[in-house]
Amino acid sequence: MHVHLVVAHPEKSSFNYALHCVAIETLSGMGIRYSESNLYADSFNPVAGHDDVIGFPDGESFNLAKAQRFALENNAFIRQIKHEQNKLKECDVLVLQFPLWWWSFPAILKGWIDRVLTSGFAYGEGATLKAKKVMYSITTGGAKNQSELDYYQAKIDGLYQDVFAFMGWEIIPPFIAHGVQQKSHQQRLDILASYTAHIQKKLTLAQS
Ligand SMILES: Cc1cc2nc3c(=O)[nH]c(=O)nc-3n(C[C@H](O)[C@H](O)[C@H](O)COP(=O)(O)O)c2cc1C
Repeated sequence: MHVHLVVAHPEKSSFNYALHCVAIETLSGMGIRYSESNLYADSFNPVAGHDDVIGFPDGESFNLAKAQRFALENNAFIRQIKHEQNKLKECDVLVLQFPLWWWSFPAILKGWIDRVLTSGFAYGEGATLKAKKVMYSITTGGAKNQSELDYYQAKIDGLYQDVFAFMGWEIIPPFIAHGVQQKSHQQRLDILASYTAHIQKKLTLAQS
């Protein structure tokens, strides 16, 4: 099994990074191969558009999905996109580590989805990328009661449905760390330990 870890957080001392480091340590401990995309550290450009593709014919009005198909057929994606797509081809499981921002992915991660999971490669007729398994590890601002927890769950289910379930990928239940900024040092350590257990359990199941 090969796991690709994508982390989307601007700050190395954040809880998101701590979770990302736990993922790396846990996978290493399990003897599972991994690769990573560290979107802020890699200065990943999240803005999809003309510059994604080299040599899309002048005169054709620009349509992103069409340009993405042209790029795939003509080996015309820019290096950054090719590099990310190659990492995806290699993996069996994708893990996305991110804070919930406006009930969604941070823009840098949304841009990674727009620019890397392209038409004809990841979805749509004749898509060449084999379907993978995907797991989110998310931090949130915090839930005060069960109805708020249910609201988070529905939002996060939607984030799976609208992207990865749409593409036919298998969903691994997420790890959700609520209200990390209000937690004590010990509570944070306990959350990190639960993440280790979550990965061990879910990825062992995913392997079988
Ligand atoms: C731009 C922005 C938008 C946010 N939107 C939400 C949100 O929609 N729901 C939520 O629960 N928390 C929201 N938060 C809080 C973050 O999710 C929270 O600060 C983060 O998960 C904590 O993890 P960190 O310490 O690793 O950054 C938002 C924070 C920022 C900066």
